[in-house]
Amino acid sequence: MAWLLVHRGFTSYSNGMETLPTPDHCLLVIFGASGDLTRRKLIPSLYDLCRTRQLPAKLTVLGVSRTEMSDEQFRQNMKPWCEKRPGYDESAWPHFARRLHYQPADAADDQSFPRVVERIAALRNEKQLNDNLLFYLSVAPNLYDPIVVNIGAANLVTEGRRWCSLNREHAPWQRIIVEKPFGHDHASAAHLNRVLGRVFEDENVFRIDHYLGKETVQNLLVFRFANAIWEPLWNRQYVDHVQITAAETVGVEGRGGYFETSGALRDMIQSHLLQLMALLAMEPPTGFKADDLRNEQRKVLEAVAPIDPSQVDRCAVRGQYGPGESGGETVPGYRQEEGVDPASPTDTYAAVKLAINNWRWSGVPFYLRTGKRLKRKLTQMVIQFKATPHCLFNDMQGQPICRPANRLVINVQPDEGISLRFEGKVPGPGMRIESAIMDFDFRRRFGGEPTEAYATLLMEAIEGDQSLFKDRHEIEAAWRIVEPIMRHWAERSADEFPNYAAGSWGPAAADELLTDHGTWRNPEGQSSRSKMVQK
Ligand code: BG6
Repeated sequence: MAWLLVHRGFTSYSNGMETLPTPDHCLLVIFGASGDLTRRKLIPSLYDLCRTRQLPAKLTVLGVSRTEMSDEQFRQNMKPWCEKRPGYDESAWPHFARRLHYQPADAADDQSFPRVVERIAALRNEKQLNDNLLFYLSVAPNLYDPIVVNIGAANLVTEGRRWCSLNREHAPWQRIIVEKPFGHDHASAAHLNRVLGRVFEDENVFRIDHYLGKETVQNLLVFRFANAIWEPLWNRQYVDHVQITAAETVGVEGRGGYFETSGALRDMIQSHLLQLMALLAMEPPTGFKADDLRNEQRKVLEAVAPIDPSQVDRCAVRGQYGPGESGGETVPGYRQEEGVDPASPTDTYAAVKLAINNWRWSGVPFYLRTGKRLKRKLTQMVIQFKATPHCLFNDMQGQPICRPANRLVINVQPDEGISLRFEGKVPGPGMRIESAIMDFDFRRRFGGEPTEAYATLLMEAIEGDQSLFKDRHEIEAAWRIVEPIMRHWAERSADEFPNYAAGSWGPAAADELLTDHGTWRNPEGQSSRSKMVQK
């Protein structure tokens, strides 16, 4: 992780072409190779890494899914997605394409799995690879169990057995990356952890949260722990409350079927938003090794006050978008999306108020919200500081001038940057005070585009560094936090749905969560209230 922060994260920001130490070569087996994630993120990220000469020389990719396809068809299907990457270079394509292979098979079926095993053996032979294997589970979550069982039964995982007495540094390894959703509640996540544990050692299980691969999210650690000035302020003495927002303008993008089984609380709050909260609230780690970081994040999640079932309506708000306008176009409501029940009770918006019961954060509310089809795409963390203890300045009429308190905004995306609001005197006679913003913009300062999160995470997994992946306890703790809300919502009909218009800032009820602490920070200052377009 230290290496990543110092070298890849920020030097690649500035030139993207730095020659970096060559990690191990391996065979990357992607289950779910005809799926959306593979074409939109995984293969284009690998292409970027190949073009910038960061991929191990012999890294070979084997895509597996049920669709019948040849290697060549797989390559041709992937090419248009790589061409969309900034900096695409046609001359780098043939070199990359040669690494791509495809095997049609139903990996969840033990009768079909031997085709995968044979192809792995053939590729190892042809490319002269060792036994290093990186599996990527990019399939529907109900297929995780059978695929892991099939991997185990095929004896593809040798680490921890044959090599346990040898020097581990040079032993071949087998690792697995598990996409979210990691379970659909605490019990299923714990079950999946056990299934994985029967085949893989925990140090070889990489539970992904792609937010951890985002440059600005990693920068939060640098911002907090490479600067001495924040630490004295980063606590209940100075912080009034924290807001974490992940707003999206898109709807469910053809994933209605998946979203119906998930909802905004499970899809975003349980994973990405609690992850951001943990990074923001954690204690300084003693080092930058995976366990140092993950233990501190886990402690934050474990310190979150359990939500009493009778109090859920006071600390959680759900919403579902109706028809409205997005990007200048009229868009349908969630219930009109493909694959969605016309009477669906699924939340496309969720806002929660959490308390962290520890010395640092006692009494400081953390407000988390996320939604589809909101007014703007925006992921940000707002640290709202307390007001001055007393108003010192008076206006011409002798009335005290009470100005807003300082506020630090960390923009994760887009417009990656950090800004601090403070008060200043307007030049001229008398005392007029206005807010000013100190602004840091990633692109202006460091140039270039941020590295794609999946590229960062794939390299970390190839290198065997788990710092940017969740550990099993963090995931289980995050499910414990949201479970009372999930249960409460499941037991109640969603008569209020749809309760926000596409293109608004979400349901009005979300404003009431904050009451004593002002309002949500929406860019352009809109309140959540808005009119629904008539169906
Ligand atoms: C995924 C969710 O994990 O994150 C999606 O399943 C969501 O529903 C996506 O759209 C958001 O990611 P990003 O990187 O665009 O903020």
